[in-house]
Amino acid sequence: MLRFPISICLFATIASLSITTVIGAAAPLVDAATEEKITALLGQMTLAEKVGQLTQDSSSFDLTGPVPKEAKPRDRYDRIRSGAVGSMLNVCGVAAVHEAQRLALENSRLKIPMIFGYDVIHGYRTCFPIPLGEAASWNLTAIEATAHIAAMEAAASGLNWTFAPMVDIARDARWGRVMEGAGEDPYLGGLIAGARVRGFQGADLKAPDAIAACAKHFAGYGFAEAGRDYNVADISEHTLRNVVLPPFKAAVEAGAATLMNSFNEIGGVPATANAHILRDILKGEWGFSGLVVSDWQSIGELRGHGVARDLADAARLAITAGSDMDMEARAYGDHLAELVRSGAVKEALVDDAVRRVLRVKFAVGLFEDPFRHCDPAREKAVVGNPAFLATARDVARKSIVLLKNDGGLLPLSLKLKRIAVIGPLAADKDTPLGGWRAQALPESAVSLLEGIKAAAGPATKIVYVVGAPLLAKPGDFPYEVVFNTTDRSGFSAAVSAARSADLVIMAVGETAIQTGEGRSQADPGLKGLQEELLREVYAANPRIVVVLMNGRPLTLPWVADHVPAIVEAWHLGSEAGHAIADVLFGHYNPSGRLPISFPRVVGQVPVYYNHKSTGRPMDSEGKVYWSHYADVANEPQYPFGFGLSYTTFAYSDLRLSAPALTADGSLTVAVKVANTGKVAGTETVQLYVRDRVGSVTRPVKELKGFRQILLQPGERQDVTFTLTSADLAFYTARGVWEAEPGEFQVFVGANSRDVTTAEFVLR
Ligand code: NOJ
Repeated sequence: MLRFPISICLFATIASLSITTVIGAAAPLVDAATEEKITALLGQMTLAEKVGQLTQDSSSFDLTGPVPKEAKPRDRYDRIRSGAVGSMLNVCGVAAVHEAQRLALENSRLKIPMIFGYDVIHGYRTCFPIPLGEAASWNLTAIEATAHIAAMEAAASGLNWTFAPMVDIARDARWGRVMEGAGEDPYLGGLIAGARVRGFQGADLKAPDAIAACAKHFAGYGFAEAGRDYNVADISEHTLRNVVLPPFKAAVEAGAATLMNSFNEIGGVPATANAHILRDILKGEWGFSGLVVSDWQSIGELRGHGVARDLADAARLAITAGSDMDMEARAYGDHLAELVRSGAVKEALVDDAVRRVLRVKFAVGLFEDPFRHCDPAREKAVVGNPAFLATARDVARKSIVLLKNDGGLLPLSLKLKRIAVIGPLAADKDTPLGGWRAQALPESAVSLLEGIKAAAGPATKIVYVVGAPLLAKPGDFPYEVVFNTTDRSGFSAAVSAARSADLVIMAVGETAIQTGEGRSQADPGLKGLQEELLREVYAANPRIVVVLMNGRPLTLPWVADHVPAIVEAWHLGSEAGHAIADVLFGHYNPSGRLPISFPRVVGQVPVYYNHKSTGRPMDSEGKVYWSHYADVANEPQYPFGFGLSYTTFAYSDLRLSAPALTADGSLTVAVKVANTGKVAGTETVQLYVRDRVGSVTRPVKELKGFRQILLQPGERQDVTFTLTSADLAFYTARGVWEAEPGEFQVFVGANSRDVTTAEFVLR
């Protein structure tokens, strides 16, 4: 058996931990001298002061302005002054952060600053594509760059900490939060997790433009049963280790200072009270020295799960399991001190949690200057600086995936006489901002219509028709909405606009408030009257480009079968309309690739490329008794890694440097890729492997590498990958992360479906 290099875990608190499973993933957050300072500080703290450090309050009021009556602000002020609050979330802006910090420090005996966190998910003021969309760029440099700009803006606004990246693997289009992650693949997800952490934190957490990252939700949240948010997840240790945890481990390896609990249970134990994942794995095996913050009231929710009798019991379970900071449940604040005094919780557990909180505060430089991010001049200069828009446009167009382009309908000619633009989403300046838009200004996105008007040639007349509203009652973000199902009064105008146009661009999908937290959908198809209208428009003029705006994979069987051109444009952020128009008019040759499979119908869900073979795989003989559906294909509508270009690429001459790989050797996989079309284009060359026989069942394909190359027409390039045994490692039947000798298949191609293949042996 081949093992990863083993390093001794820094914080091996778990006696039962076997040395073979200890893989030191995390670098220490602070140096030894700082640890000594923390020890000294801890020695001076009362129990109440310690508990205060473990408590995070939300600001439901504006510390610098009028206070809503219902917010009971005096209570919040008093809590800050009394040292009951070690951290706040949702306080934004230099003035508000400064005021809150001043309240805390003026009254704090030991002058311990608060740390301010916020959900900076895909931008702060400047809005980038939603994370799922941005993942479709497969461009780690671009992804790191947008996280860095988000950090610059957030830091300039007084913040020290973002609750991002969300690194939950998601295979279920019904789950609303699929929009917040990087999709279905642990390898791609791990790389993107690392890029986002580096983007937020930079090389030095104390830099003026750095904020601490928070990998969330630890763990298994994306496996909510039936895609229903907050539902239970039942994940085996095998799936946990091989699929769910790798992106978290990558985030920890990239230096993520914090992690957040998830709301779900795993196999009967809620994640917030799950010592196995928090203590054994995260803080034990991986040597993570940062802090774990609960999710919003997730400690209190241990009562709802039915594992805690009351809030005190919930506090006991959570602190024992290794949840360090209580976000808004008041469980620690109200009960932890008494639990320690009664002997139900050892003070050493509280000390360890406080140490972790203090480490993060030291690491971000708050002890050197608690007001370090509170410079109003910098805030004015940095937040919403128009210079960031160029990056927003660039990454947005890199995130667009061309799903279909029959007859070369795209790119559009500047000579078209008349284009009909149809659908409410086309003129929508809010939806492209997506869910979790932080401090993006309302209606601040460039709409598709604006983008098209700016890009179309002078000879082209643009006619816009709503067709049918998407929602009967537009909801105020982020509250509930009612889908429109009846208003067909705009259909005839849409149909006649289509009839008299050379070409139709129709925007369909979902609004920003139809995806995200609490927005699960049993049917991830086109909502309301969209498909009905599309069919009528198609009957009038089939030259249609459908532009999809959505936060999740949509089921689109009719659209996929009929409409000649389909552009996946997600919710692309501030510059959405310009970015889409860049692609529509061929100023940018689309290069995005799906980070998640698109099902044909909801009944296929979960459908993902790296599934297992089963004992009766679908290529076996026999008509009925193999693993399939009688009414629909097993394959998704669009597979993982899929995306078209305005050019074509040909793959040839796949070759391996040797027939075998040894434990400490390497193997080169090379392939020739040629641009066989008429324009330059970027191809994402993807490499997958299959472990033929394992001690446990192995996926039919696993992504292990990719390269993005730009090829001019007629240009051909050799693309090479290097494989080592570490790339083939997984969590085996022995409970060890290791590679097992045997036969492997290697696949190289344009997506997870269209590949050429070769074989090698691991000795
Ligand atoms: C609940 C969400 O699950 C989490 O992702 C978020 O960071 C917190 N609320 C704080 O807003």
